[in-house]
Amino acid sequence: MKITNSQLEAVAVKPNQYPAGDLKEIAFAGRSNVGKSSLLNLLTGRKKLARVSGSPGKTRTINFYLINDAFRIVDLPGYGYAKVSKSVSESWGPMMEQYLGSRENLLKVVLLVDIRHAPSKQDVEMYEYLRHYGLDGVVVATKADKISRNQMQKQIRTIRQTLGLGGDDIVIPVSALKRTGHEDLLDLMEALLEG
Ligand code: GTP
Ligand code: MG
Repeated sequence: MKITNSQLEAVAVKPNQYPAGDLKEIAFAGRSNVGKSSLLNLLTGRKKLARVSGSPGKTRTINFYLINDAFRIVDLPGYGYAKVSKSVSESWGPMMEQYLGSRENLLKVVLLVDIRHAPSKQDVEMYEYLRHYGLDGVVVATKADKISRNQMQKQIRTIRQTLGLGGDDIVIPVSALKRTGHEDLLDLMEALLEG
């Protein structure tokens, strides 16, 4: 699949702000600063579609992007960033739960983890949560440019073990910096959307 058309369709903190549930959605979840917004920009080939920042906590709303006029990619707010205000961190849970727990056109949630580290306790909790809703099975290991090819296989094994992935579950290493891995993810997304 190639993405030829992408646009921000809606920014939401509550369900009545979501776009109509007419198109299939694939969402990106993961801790703050892991590279969710960068991945969206990589996939769409647009450097400034989603705002990227070196300081964590950039995306604090649920952002719906219309892709090829055919489906949506949903950029979710990150977790695990201590410095956001109390009101922001308290609203994160309900905001995510409302979306993940009741969005019927949500096909899959791609969990992003940093390839350099074992998944955190919060990553494991997030994945368990996705499993509970049947939204699990695809993990993207971000920032693959930061480690050597040798280290890559070892880190992917650690990610698989820590999240308790099975043989059918997929881990795709991606680098937004070097622009690698996105074609594999796009092919997988295409298969999910068709399936
Ligand atoms: P929140 O919106 O806070 O949840 O963060 P996010 O997950 O959207 O992360 P974002 O895409 O804003 O990226 C965070 C930082 O990581 C930025 O400084 C990016 O440039 C950097 N980054 C993202 N992906 C990569 C990558 O593949 N390689 C490298 N080296 N840096 C990356
Ligand atoms: Mg972001």
